[in-house]
Amino acid sequence: MRRKFIAGNWKMNKTPSEAVTLAAELLPLVKNDEEDVVFCVPAIDIVPVVAAVKGSNVKVGAQNMYFEDKGAYTGEISPLMLKDAGVDYVIIGHSERRQYFGESDEMLNKKILKAFEHGLTPIICCGETLEQREEGITLEWIKGQITAAFQNVSADLAKASVVAYEPIWAIGTGKVATSEQAQEVCGYIRKCICELYDEATADEIRILYGGSVTAASAPELFAMPDIDGGLVGGASLKPDFGGIVNYK
Ligand code: 13P
Repeated sequence: MRRKFIAGNWKMNKTPSEAVTLAAELLPLVKNDEEDVVFCVPAIDIVPVVAAVKGSNVKVGAQNMYFEDKGAYTGEISPLMLKDAGVDYVIIGHSERRQYFGESDEMLNKKILKAFEHGLTPIICCGETLEQREEGITLEWIKGQITAAFQNVSADLAKASVVAYEPIWAIGTGKVATSEQAQEVCGYIRKCICELYDEATADEIRILYGGSVTAASAPELFAMPDIDGGLVGGASLKPDFGGIVNYK
């Protein structure tokens, strides 16, 4: 039985002091020992939020990182820095990074390999645009993204990783995918992992849905056989996140 995984992606919201306040407000609402609960916070909020969640069930994730250990890469954050600061997870390949910062599949694969090298678990994002969905090429597109992401990743590491299916048309739009639409793609991602590796790997890897998830939509989405939780944007900044974590 896969353990549910619920991550909040705070995106570019909350100053360090606001982040500490929000973490303190959410902590009592997101208590749950049967799931993995993660706050993926802006880089500058990592240190104070790690301190704020200490001793709780919440782990901290980053929203991005660079694929080198250190060096002359002005403005970037290295996996060593994240690890040392107490981070356990890192979102890689969010559609906003792909779209606004030109991150390619090749670059994302380098980041994924680097995250694993330093003991960080990547939350690997994929998803199609509305045009791609309407053209009927969603599954083909997702397969391409998944295949590129897992290039040179061993089965053992793949097993431990987390994939987030986030249809771009559902992100921040209030237009949540139906549970059938989300299940179709999450089930297909599991099939791709089975083809790339084997059944045991496909059985263990956790696959999330993201895109306008709320406490109202979470129960139906998370009840689907291949949806192991959610990557939540807007609602992760509100008490609603407690309702998403404790959706049962
Ligand atoms: P929303 O939940 O705000 O649609 O954002 C989803 C998302 O992009 C999470 O990474």
